[in-house]
Amino acid sequence: MSEQFDNTAGPLTTESGAPISNNNQSEAAGVGGPLLIQDQVLLEKLAHFNRERIPERVVHARGAGAYGTFTVTADVTKYTKAKFLSQVGKETETFLRFSTVADSLGGADARRDPRGWALKFYTEEGNYDLVGNNTPVFFIRDAIKFPDFIHTQKRDPYTGSQEADNVWDFWSLSPESTHQVTWLFGDRGIPASYRHMDGFGSHTFQWVNEAGEQFWVKYHFKTDQGIKNLTQDEANKLAGEDPDSHQRDLRESIERGDFPTWTVQVQIMPAAEAANYRYNPFDLTKVWLNEDYPRITIGKLELNRNPQNIFAEVEQSIFSPAHFVPGIGPSPDKMLQGRLFAYGDAHRYRVGINADHLPVNRPHATEARNGNRDGLGYDGRHGGQKNYEPNSFGGPYETGQPLWAPLQLNGATGEWETPKHAEDDDYVQAGKLFRLMSEDEQDRLIANLSGFIAKVSRDDIIERAIANFAKADETYGKRLAAAVAELRK
Ligand code: HEM
Repeated sequence: MSEQFDNTAGPLTTESGAPISNNNQSEAAGVGGPLLIQDQVLLEKLAHFNRERIPERVVHARGAGAYGTFTVTADVTKYTKAKFLSQVGKETETFLRFSTVADSLGGADARRDPRGWALKFYTEEGNYDLVGNNTPVFFIRDAIKFPDFIHTQKRDPYTGSQEADNVWDFWSLSPESTHQVTWLFGDRGIPASYRHMDGFGSHTFQWVNEAGEQFWVKYHFKTDQGIKNLTQDEANKLAGEDPDSHQRDLRESIERGDFPTWTVQVQIMPAAEAANYRYNPFDLTKVWLNEDYPRITIGKLELNRNPQNIFAEVEQSIFSPAHFVPGIGPSPDKMLQGRLFAYGDAHRYRVGINADHLPVNRPHATEARNGNRDGLGYDGRHGGQKNYEPNSFGGPYETGQPLWAPLQLNGATGEWETPKHAEDDDYVQAGKLFRLMSEDEQDRLIANLSGFIAKVSRDDIIERAIANFAKADETYGKRLAAAVAELRK
């Protein structure tokens, strides 16, 4: 958080500190006359106002954040050497930004949409960011499809609105989305608040221990507040009455000392088991079954401090899946690999080359030390110190210790499809999820999906969409077809 600045002591001033005599009347050329270019108070004020916005996030534009504490509750040193996980009882400061995905900044919180879960651990070995969602899976499995996918969720270039035609055209042509779409149109698709939902790291990550042994890991954050959701009707009403419902709920609960907590769990797969797991463990459209890799509780996350300035601490906060610490690294998941590039690039565009120096973004439990210098907004923090390495003046030095362990590879480069494992197809887990739902929930799922599909203008897109759900489960497809036909009568 930035240092508090006393804005109450003394007179109003210009940016250069000169006292302002009148903040209500501009300087005119005579009574009733036009304004003067010498009125620097007016010109500076108008110019600053014009530059108040930075580009909003291209996705996840609406969000709310809070600081908190992560506490380790189980010994995981046999899986990772990460220092912040090295001891039961160890506490690490965190900052968590929640978000919705598709709406722009001026939208509403109570939408059917995944919720972002961007968690920064300010560890003594650097900041570790886990940039996940409230869903364990995603719509697609290759980063190269992401911009196309998001274009179908955002405004159509001609109509300026989100179009059912585009959404269902893309989803029906991308059958790997069937699992995540089933999830999204079920009860958990509209959480009642950010406090009443789970979080997931979603991807598979690498953990490596002191001995160099590798494990694959998935993170789960189970809400201790209980899961609470809104129905479509409740959400439609709330989005109109209180567009900031999630943000308000989070801030107010922390203000009254009712700190939300999550139980932190991991699924661990020894690296050697990945090749023969029934599903490709690096395919983001799939979960690992709990019966195969049971969740182990390793910690507690509590949010307990509100940011004081939303622009400085939430709008300018940056999170990157590429921010790792020793003992944690990426997997070959093709979505994660693309994200390792995309976020830093977005930050440089949106917040600038020195975004990492801002109070919310910089390491809190260590220092960033390197030869990077200057650029827009550079604060001169390095004074006259040398800006190159190697140097003979006591500058920072490389460690020779990679953060994560190397991956064994073979074969030729190429535009390969994600390899399928024994039980993989695009529909198997969507069908399982449908059959896990109670009859009531299935009814709501069919109603939610059919309401949206029925808005599509072309029969071929509707047929293709329904065919995907039928491949997941015959009853699912039949019930959906009947419900859509009824609505289109
Ligand atoms: C390859 C696919 C993806 C790409 C290229 C991508 C790209 C982006 C970009 C450019 C941003 C805006 C960052 C900023 O301006 O600071 C963003 C935000 C975000 N993305 Fe992704 N994304 C992808 C997939 C995902 C997935 C799979 C998840 C979750 C599992 C996810 C979760 C988030 C979250 C939580 C944010 C908001 C971060 C914040 O609060 O600042 N994204 N994404």
